[in-house]
Amino acid sequence: MEARPAASRRTSARRPIAPLPPRYRSAMRLLLDAEIQDDTVDELRGLDAKLDVVDVREERAFDMDAFRDEQLEIIVGPRTPRDLDRVPGLRWLQLRSAGVDHLAVDPPWRHGIVTTNARGVYAIPIAEYVTGMVLRSHQPTGWAMDQAAHHWPGEAPLITVLRGSTALVVGYGSIGREIARQLSALGVRILAAKARPEKRADDGYRVPGTGDPDGSIPERIVGLDRLTETARSADLLVVTVPLTDDSRGLVDREVIDALPVHAWVINVSRGPIIDEAALLEALRAGQVGGAVLDVFAQEPLPADSPWWDAPNTIVTPHASGVTLRYFDRLVIENVRRYLAGEPLLNQVDPERGY
Ligand SMILES: NC(=O)c1ccc[n+]([C@@H]2O[C@H](COP(=O)([O-])OP(=O)(O)OC[C@H]3O[C@@H](n4cnc5c(N)ncnc54)[C@H](OP(=O)(O)O)[C@@H]3O)[C@@H](O)[C@H]2O)c1
Repeated sequence: MEARPAASRRTSARRPIAPLPPRYRSAMRLLLDAEIQDDTVDELRGLDAKLDVVDVREERAFDMDAFRDEQLEIIVGPRTPRDLDRVPGLRWLQLRSAGVDHLAVDPPWRHGIVTTNARGVYAIPIAEYVTGMVLRSHQPTGWAMDQAAHHWPGEAPLITVLRGSTALVVGYGSIGREIARQLSALGVRILAAKARPEKRADDGYRVPGTGDPDGSIPERIVGLDRLTETARSADLLVVTVPLTDDSRGLVDREVIDALPVHAWVINVSRGPIIDEAALLEALRAGQVGGAVLDVFAQEPLPADSPWWDAPNTIVTPHASGVTLRYFDRLVIENVRRYLAGEPLLNQVDPERGY
């Protein structure tokens, strides 16, 4: 994201403020600039007669930076106007993304705007992507070619089974936990690494029946100090960590070198978390088994990127989480909470930056 011009920045941070219950207000305005379904907009409007929903979803010419509204209190969308003086009453930003790294230059939470992300919304599609890719990488690759050539091979290739293998899930939040739940159902042993290994429970938005809310699936949850050591026993390393100053380059050469030669690396969070040069070298040298990469340091991936032709590598265009499901439920629940003066789900921790 572009840097906000210094002149337009607020210099003094506003203190975080808890939303007031609706009885103290005559109206509250919500700007809707995120993909949600029409029925959900009606449902939103029906939550409270005082809620004034300004729906700009279809307005192609809508320019957030040109928007000015003294009454605006809530944005459901990707960001705020760069100049916050245009929206002096803004209290809450609900993002459609789980990642908040696009706001890192001048985060709204530093200006006292409560920011909630969409963690939990992408857990199911991304976990299904990972499960599907893991199963695919365990199947022989020649079948499609044989079928196209109308060829029945004399000897069928041996199938390698997933059951009994070990996955190290790096980042054990909404996505990591649903990956663990799905893979453990296939008999995969789960190890997890996260910033605060002592914090086992997940208190974010979650589709009922999914994930691992109490953190009981992994055989071990380790801190970052044990990442390299734990990588030695991983047949599969899955990266699900938010991009912050602390996580940039987290999966470095040392971690990659520690993986067994048959191990696969999957990245569904953000490209810069992995040392891409080290991973590419390891793939070319046969020091790791393969990679499934949905995200890259440079996106879109340039046509001449070496990743397109990297050995044993599946490339997808930052698409593992694209879904129209679940976000609507999070918005309705959070707006309901806001109106009732209850704590919002998925508040970004200003100290940790995710
Ligand atoms: N490919 C896509 O289309 C797509 C879609 C959605 C999201 N994403 C990416 O996926 C990320 C994760 O989403 P989520 O919903 O799972 O987030 P989440 O629920 O907030 O979970 C984040 C997890 O990462 C851990 N973590 C944070 N910083 C870390 C660090 N420096 N080292 C180790 N662990 C760290 C956290 O540990 P603690 O719990 O101990 O703090 C937590 O377990 C998003 O931030 C976004 O970048 C990608």
